[in-house]
Amino acid sequence: MKRIVMGMVALAALGLMGGVGAPAQAAEIKGEAKALNHISAEECKSCHKDIYEQWKGSMHANSTALNDPIHNAFYRQTVGDPLKEGELAGAKKNEDGTVTGGSYPSCLNCHAPNAAIDGKTKLDTMASYAEGVSCVVCHSLKSYKGINKPEGGLQLGIKAYEFSGDTLQGPGLPAAAAGKDAIEGLDGISNPHLEPVKGTYLPLDAKAVQFRTNDACMGCHDKRNNGHGVPLCSTGDEVTSKVQCQSCHMSVTNGKSDHTMGGGHNMGMLRRSMVLSVDAVPAGDTITTTVNMQNLQPHSMPTGAPFRNIFLKVSALDKDGKVVWESAKGHPMEDDPDAYLRLVLLDGDGKPTSPPMAKSRGADTRLQPFEKRALVYSIPAPGVASIKAELFYNLLWPNLQAAMKEKMPEKLHGPLLSPQSFMQAETKL
Ligand code: HEC
Ligand code: HEC
Ligand code: HEC
Ligand code: HEC
Ligand code: HEC
Repeated sequence: MKRIVMGMVALAALGLMGGVGAPAQAAEIKGEAKALNHISAEECKSCHKDIYEQWKGSMHANSTALNDPIHNAFYRQTVGDPLKEGELAGAKKNEDGTVTGGSYPSCLNCHAPNAAIDGKTKLDTMASYAEGVSCVVCHSLKSYKGINKPEGGLQLGIKAYEFSGDTLQGPGLPAAAAGKDAIEGLDGISNPHLEPVKGTYLPLDAKAVQFRTNDACMGCHDKRNNGHGVPLCSTGDEVTSKVQCQSCHMSVTNGKSDHTMGGGHNMGMLRRSMVLSVDAVPAGDTITTTVNMQNLQPHSMPTGAPFRNIFLKVSALDKDGKVVWESAKGHPMEDDPDAYLRLVLLDGDGKPTSPPMAKSRGADTRLQPFEKRALVYSIPAPGVASIKAELFYNLLWPNLQAAMKEKMPEKLHGPLLSPQSFMQAETKL
């Protein structure tokens, strides 16, 4: 009988050790052997200061249940405690305190990849676990396998990628390849990744092409299904045109790509997201008002988690700026449903429900990629001097905003739990 003896490295490369599918080879950093997924972003900060600051404020750095209050609420509801080891998703708690069934929480494959690589669930174990989608997560992606398993079913997040083991991966910028003096104070070493003083810095393979394509994003951003196969947290499945995510989400300034990667949590991004205009045509007693909206994205507006939504409010003002007419009192869902852009999720009885419970998708009134849409209002003319349209972005549906207000400490409410006005247009008569 032939015996095959595999070393640790070979086992790790096959993904058989502990974790979900990425190798845990050791890399040498400051003379210490460490697995790449145990290296904190703090180790990159001293040289990549701007990128570090941008990333630190992004939802990537705040993607775990420890730092994202909304994710925390859903994680606790569907999985359990992010501060405990061995938590399982879908496990049954028996009366005698024992647990049956359940599986490793798949959320962590995207929301806490460094912990998922080790198959761990206690997210405060080390800095790199708590950092969520950190530098080493993206910069160790070697190639993209796609989210469809060859044998059927989905492989999501880190499971959609091959990892590089102990070598950082990068897009291969001229500065990195030629070793230009991009960073001060390195005393003659132009790129410590490429000409490492032994034991000082991590080696880098600076030609990984997928950093310039959507492959760098799609493992986590294409779509993910809940237990009933309904796609949630999705964007890739909305995109119909060939367009690079990085062109908007990682624009290049001063030769460096922006790692802010803003979305619904980012007012600057929201202000660039649409075109809004108002046309008013008075005729006799009424003003026929057309509000034009255009989505500038190759994905839905809003995109992402299914509870993201937008609503439009139209108001007519008199010459003193006093409101004399409104398209809706309060939220428009009752009085003006066309002005409420959202995706509905349905339970088995066809009633609206929350993401973990959804059995199917219902009405989708969000703007489709690049869609132009006009809403027409007949406004009584007397006393009207101007007409204003205003768009509000919401991270959550109104019922979830209300429910979270009960659960979350008041200091966290702010923009997370209330409508954010992000765009206005006005026309004078
Ligand atoms: C001692 C300074 C130093 C430290 C610490 C450092 N880097 Fe770098 N790194 C550089 C320099 C210099 C370059 C080349 C110029 C540039 O691209 O900014 C570079 C380039 C890179 C590139 C670009 C490669 C390409 O393909 O263009 C990546 C990616 C990278 N570093 C990732 C990291 C990560 C992740 C960490 C933390 C684990 C880190 N670096 C820590 C100095 C450092
Ligand atoms: C034309 C610019 C543009 C391109 C290209 C683009 N986006 Fe966006 N994206 C935006 C803007 C603006 C927003 C903020 C408005 C919104 O949430 O839709 C956004 C929001 C997002 C969000 C945030 C969702 C949330 O819940 O907060 C995600 C995720 C996202 N984009 C992923 C992608 C991916 C993946 C690609 C590539 C397939 C991509 N985007 C391409 C402009 C763009
Ligand atoms: C969500 C994935 C992701 C995360 C997280 C991430 N990067 Fe990047 N990084 C990229 C991509 C993609 C590029 C290439 C962008 C391009 O060339 O269009 C890149 C480019 C770079 C570069 C090349 C120089 C440049 O400006 O393009 C450096 C250096 C870098 N990243 C360092 C870091 C550091 C340090 C961190 C953590 C503080 C980090 N990255 C976190 C995806 C990521
Ligand atoms: C390893 C998985 C992973 C990869 C790879 C990844 N992301 Fe993300 N991204 C996430 C997770 C998880 C979140 C959600 C964090 C949260 O809201 O809790 C997120 C959030 C975002 C957001 C939303 C920010 C907001 O304001 O809500 C944008 C935009 C985004 N990512 C863009 C990108 C782009 C562009 C790429 C490719 C260059 C990329 N991501 C690669 C996992 C990933
Ligand atoms: C395939 C990767 C992936 C998996 C698996 C995944 N998510 Fe996400 N999730 C994302 C991405 C990407 C975003 C950010 C973009 C968006 O808003 O959809 C996100 C956003 C969220 C948000 C919104 C956070 C906010 O700040 O508003 C919640 C809540 C969430 N996910 C919960 C979960 C839970 C709970 C699980 C496990 C049951 C899970 N996700 C599994 C990729 C994933």
